[in-house]
Amino acid sequence: MPHEAAVRIAPSVMCADQSALADEVRVLEEVGVDLLHFDVMDAAFAPNLPLGLGALADLRRRTRLPFDVHLMVENNDWFVARTAEIGVQQIAVHAESARHLDRTLAGIQERGVLAGVALNPATPLETLEWVLERLDFVLLMTVNPGFAGQELVPAALRKIRACREYLDARGKCVPISVDGNVSFANIPSMVAAGAGVLVGGTSSLYHRDGTRAENFARTRQAIEAGLAARAEVDR
Ligand code: DX5
Ligand code: ZN
Repeated sequence: MPHEAAVRIAPSVMCADQSALADEVRVLEEVGVDLLHFDVMDAAFAPNLPLGLGALADLRRRTRLPFDVHLMVENNDWFVARTAEIGVQQIAVHAESARHLDRTLAGIQERGVLAGVALNPATPLETLEWVLERLDFVLLMTVNPGFAGQELVPAALRKIRACREYLDARGKCVPISVDGNVSFANIPSMVAAGAGVLVGGTSSLYHRDGTRAENFARTRQAIEAGLAARAEVDR
């Protein structure tokens, strides 16, 4: 299973206190997160409207952390253009809303931004087949898009494992982000299955029982447990 060893942590900023985003981001920088995950929804593709582009632009001026944008919208190309203008480092578009997925991914890469495909829980991995050459990462939804605080869908772990095998079999050593109910209990299995980026929300990084620093440390511990389990499997 030739994939990157390090597992990165990406807080789901929609789970933060929206009235204090600048402070939230400062704290996340201090605890040492790797990138910031921004869920951009249009209340059409996903039934919610958590973060506006204005907030994204304002936060861009306040931090040097990489921005990982997760578009859950109908008009992917319009949002790709707007978020690329803001200065983000990677954008995932949902295959389910992309009428011209190859062209949309090309449009992301032409702007010097890493291009990812996001898949809803029921969407087959084969959707990736004819855009592998344009793929910098995969985002697997382990809950149905729209809201934080949901439970893992039943097929989540086996889909992460299958996705890692699918990509490795095609020589695509690109990371798999997992997004949804990335909890302290689920993280070891997610990492063992091949998750390379963890989108941390209300069940880990924003867990109500800990500070961001405490939750970050617990997330790191859970990652180590997952890497140990992965090493066991690779042995
Ligand atoms: C859901 C979003 C996720 C969500 C994660 O549509 O993409 O990032 O906020 O929150 P938890 O970890 O609470 O499921
Ligand atoms: Zn997301």
